[in-house]
Amino acid sequence: MRGLAGKRVLISGGSSGIGAATARRFLEEGAQVVLGGLSEAEVDQAVADLAPLGEVSGLAGDVSSAADVTRLVDGAIATMGAIDVLINNAGIAWREPFLEITPDHWDRIVSVNLRGMFLVAQAVARHLVERGSGGVILNMSSTNGLGGEADYAHYNASKGGVLLLSKTMAVELGKHGIRVNSLCPGYIKTPLNSAISSGLADDFVSAYERDHIPLGRAGLAAEVAAGYAFLASDDASFINGAELVIDGGQLAIM
Ligand SMILES: NC(=O)c1ccc[n+]([C@@H]2O[C@H](COP(=O)([O-])OP(=O)(O)OC[C@H]3O[C@@H](n4cnc5c(N)ncnc54)[C@H](O)[C@@H]3O)[C@@H](O)[C@H]2O)c1
Repeated sequence: MRGLAGKRVLISGGSSGIGAATARRFLEEGAQVVLGGLSEAEVDQAVADLAPLGEVSGLAGDVSSAADVTRLVDGAIATMGAIDVLINNAGIAWREPFLEITPDHWDRIVSVNLRGMFLVAQAVARHLVERGSGGVILNMSSTNGLGGEADYAHYNASKGGVLLLSKTMAVELGKHGIRVNSLCPGYIKTPLNSAISSGLADDFVSAYERDHIPLGRAGLAAEVAAGYAFLASDDASFINGAELVIDGGQLAIM
């Protein structure tokens, strides 16, 4: 992908699933990576797995904590000298009927997926504006930010919020040469979805793939990483304030 070699990339939620596949993809493209994650053990493991591919290091912390986000962003700048690309990817999800959602559960999902996204994006955007040489911020939304899947009201609301956060950032930051876009993956095979489907019927995933996804299969983390790489590259130089849907055709169904 054009223009990624030598880029300094911070990936929140880079220790597992889509974020880990994205770290791998950027390292393969010749970029330098700092990855974040909630658990120190998971971050260390991801860094050890990826180290043979290039320059990668990690920092653990909770993106819903302003202090942890300051440590993450300042640490990434100290390690790489600057940040050129933010992959704002950390997120959580679980199923819960709307009528049963507790205020605490609502707050946790919204504070990781929306407040966390805002905190990391703002800290990196301030750095990019101060440096004055542009940059790219990619925020992780979801097909659940575009449609109301049952049993995910808190998650859907958080991901819908990410879409408008991103559009507003694109409007305000464009004059600084900073492009801001969102990704909307559909059903992707990751540890997050394995944990969710472990509590469901054995044939849940195969029935879901058959009935909801025109390509008849779940997506792979590497297929979302490819979307991140494209939007961060010079090939996407006029794409700003948009969302890229990567869902095997799921949202095309009437
Ligand atoms: N898997 C899917 O089908 C799918 C679809 C659309 C969007 N997404 C989004 O993609 C992103 C990655 O999901 P995944 O499926 O790879 O999940 P995953 O559970 O495999 O990875 C989640 C990552 O986020 C980090 N994280 C979680 N809570 C955190 C916190 N409080 N502070 C810091 N880091 C935290 C984890 O440490 C991990 O690195 C999420 O934002 C998710 O909502 C996933």
